Amino acid sequence: MPDADPEIHSAYAALLWQHEAGVDEVMEEAPVNRFDAPPPPPREAPTIATPEPSGRTETGQLASACSDLAALKAAMGAFEGCALKKGARNLVFADGNPEARVMIVGEAPGRDEDQQGKPFVGRSGQLLDRMFAAIELSRDADTASQALYITNTIPWRPPQNRDPSSDEIAMMKPFLLRHIELVAPDFIVLMGNPATKTLLETTTGITRMRGNWAEVMGVPALPMFHPAALLRDPLKKRPAWNDLLSLQARLGS
Ligand code: URA
Repeated sequence: MPDADPEIHSAYAALLWQHEAGVDEVMEEAPVNRFDAPPPPPREAPTIATPEPSGRTETGQLASACSDLAALKAAMGAFEGCALKKGARNLVFADGNPEARVMIVGEAPGRDEDQQGKPFVGRSGQLLDRMFAAIELSRDADTASQALYITNTIPWRPPQNRDPSSDEIAMMKPFLLRHIELVAPDFIVLMGNPATKTLLETTTGITRMRGNWAEVMGVPALPMFHPAALLRDPLKKRPAWNDLLSLQARLGS
């Protein structure tokens, strides 16, 4: 910091500390007594007779009109129907090589991903990169056979990293399905519960699903533990390694 009043130094230090601690919402200085606030105005009756509850029809129409990834990214960026967009800084569309044989579908962006507009760039992402490097796959590879393409079930960071709701997932699912169709990978990795439940339409949890190959729109799909789960519980690393070997074997055959 340049020469400045010492109070500014300590305010700056406090701000840095809060940022480190993950504080990303601000509160007002003085408390607000909500009992004194005027009652909210009566709600106007909706103008649409029977609104589609999840917005899925609208996203379905928007998604099917997209004939390439650039159009899909633009359509998702312009879509205002999902409240998550309002609290997010960036649309997190995808990263990696769209020619890749392997497409990874994660859950939703966290703080780092929201800041950079790219999936899996925080701690889980660094572990994900190391895991796939062990079977010689990388998001930076130019050759399709060594490349990865990475996206998420939900493209905006949910507030305070809460789980995306089933309505949010249902609303955004047509975009995800179109994304998979346009990339047309040979294999899909379903990273963690939300991707597995959404794309395999199952209620069975990842602990039972992982390692069992299934299909998503005709593409072989492998549910795996999410790298965040491996960071929390290192005992999950061994089954995750077995799943990586299973993917490597399919890629080689
Ligand atoms: N976890 C996810 O599932 N996706 C990301 O992009 C980051 C963390």
